[in-house]
Amino acid sequence: MKQALEVPAVKIDHLSFSYDSRGGGASVLEDISLSIADNEFTAIIGRNGAGKTTLLKNLTGLLRPRTGDIFIRGKNARDMSVSLISAEIGFVMQNPDRQLFADTVYDEAAFALRNKGLSEGEIKPRVEAALDAVGLAEERGSFPIALGRGERAKVVIASVLAMGSKILIFDEPAAGQDFRNSRRIMDILRELHGRGYTIIFVTHTMYLAAEYAWRVIVMKEKRPVMDGTAADIFSRAGKLAEAGILPPQITRLGRELRAELPLQKDPLSAAELGDMLLTLKRGGSGA
Ligand SMILES: Nc1ncnc2c1ncn2[C@@H]1O[C@H](COP(=O)(O)OP(=O)(O)O)[C@@H](O)[C@H]1O
Ligand SMILES: [Mg+2]
Repeated sequence: MKQALEVPAVKIDHLSFSYDSRGGGASVLEDISLSIADNEFTAIIGRNGAGKTTLLKNLTGLLRPRTGDIFIRGKNARDMSVSLISAEIGFVMQNPDRQLFADTVYDEAAFALRNKGLSEGEIKPRVEAALDAVGLAEERGSFPIALGRGERAKVVIASVLAMGSKILIFDEPAAGQDFRNSRRIMDILRELHGRGYTIIFVTHTMYLAAEYAWRVIVMKEKRPVMDGTAADIFSRAGKLAEAGILPPQITRLGRELRAELPLQKDPLSAAELGDMLLTLKRGGSGA
């Protein structure tokens, strides 16, 4: 009953899309229907060209569906301008460096708000809160381009956060980042999720999807082919292979160990596998 009454953060209803606006071209997204509930933490995975970025751009209004509808908190996005949509959905694009152009981190995060005509008095607390959320308060006066790669990605996240949208979409937020920075960025996403944000991210790094997302959607050639919890999705190696995806290394290792050891599930992280092995060593079931 509760579920029926809840308006999803995003609802996609029979969406199809083609880059050929005359409609004659091959579709890139085909008949996609899915809902994202409030405060979900969702990863979208799939091989290159599966349509992930195109789907995100449809969600954010940068592209518009050829047929079908997108509802944002129950409101049809067709009736919303890109700027109205951006008040509901923040979008951190792939290659965030291209989104950087201001002289200071603060100005960067304040840019869109100034553009909207807000006063400096209204802007300051929002920008400071956003910089705080990504751990960049101390860098407010720094030149964005001079920062490290991980820091630069955080500046872009802060500038999107300052806009105040509660649904946040990230296209490969950890791409091109080293292990430590990937983790730091994903930890920011996790913290935002903990504060009530709805998070959708695309990644090619399976252990990030496995460890951070609660829900994983697998895309293959124009549409989702799997949709479930991370544990559910990554234990179905055969079906994943059909979409051209290997589970995380640690999950595969765990699965191999299960041939010899009574472990009860496929682990999603090294920590989880470690716990299972310790339990086993202590005489437990390895669950
Ligand atoms: N601007 C564009 N014009 C025409 N075709 C495009 C454009 N961008 C992407 N495509 C095509 O759409 C398909 C899906 O691409 P994309 O959404 O970028 O996939 P993914 O993000 O999963 O790698 C691919 O076949 C790609 O070549
Ligand atoms: Mg892409």
